[in-house]
Amino acid sequence: MSNLRKITQLIQGQNTSDGAGVKLKRIIATPELDQLDPFLLLDEFKNDNPDDYAAGFPDHPHRGFETITYLLAGAFTHQDSHGNKGHLTSGAIQWMTAGKGIIHSEMPEQADGLAWGYQLWLNLPGKLKMTEPKYQDIPAEKLPVVNHDGVRAKILAGTYNGTTSPAQSHTPVDYFDLYLTPGAVFKQPVPADHNAFIYVIEGKAKTGSADEPTYVKAGFLGVFGPGDAVQVQADGDKPLHLLFASGQKINEPVVRGGPFVMNTMGELKKAFYDYQTGQLG
Ligand code: FE2
Repeated sequence: MSNLRKITQLIQGQNTSDGAGVKLKRIIATPELDQLDPFLLLDEFKNDNPDDYAAGFPDHPHRGFETITYLLAGAFTHQDSHGNKGHLTSGAIQWMTAGKGIIHSEMPEQADGLAWGYQLWLNLPGKLKMTEPKYQDIPAEKLPVVNHDGVRAKILAGTYNGTTSPAQSHTPVDYFDLYLTPGAVFKQPVPADHNAFIYVIEGKAKTGSADEPTYVKAGFLGVFGPGDAVQVQADGDKPLHLLFASGQKINEPVVRGGPFVMNTMGELKKAFYDYQTGQLG
């Protein structure tokens, strides 16, 4: 008998802009939820007005963590200071290990239409913060999709029901895009040393046990408390679309400043110094 995790916090996120003026909703990395170890940030961008995304994210640095960008609609070009270039199209993920540092741009390829995606930041432990930068561009067709009892799971990272994503992670994570038919139930073991959340895109999620359910509405992130499994049901007569993530806690000090996430203030100052003196990326 598993001990189902309950939702302990509901987060609505904040409308903001980043890059050169891309409108987005910041869901993790706000005063409400600064981080959920090992997750440092979650942004949702979903705009069909080109004025809200066309300026993109011109050259900017990163050090000390990984970014997982998942695109549901639109297309982006990625370019970095080492000459790497990649295309991110609908349904694909880009997993970027910034490690010791990259300077890159993330620019929309489209002039109109919907641009919709999520960027999740995953921390690196101190011993890997200065690792060599690495990219995993994984097109939609390489990401496994599992259909099981009314649950359609696209496995962005980790393992669901015996099927594993090709994405390689330094920190153990599960990250799924889930569609549930009305009444369908998604269940996933979550080790005790992991944090877990769901972000509901459409529908209403009923979580936890039948006698003590907790609910998460569309547009909200639900943070799970302790336990050894997560259970989510599509409530009512509507389908449910959501993101699920769980990750092993790193349990180290987090000192962050803009695009750099390190363990100490000294390391953070060094990151800014290296960037300003052209030694990063
Ligand atoms: Fe970036």
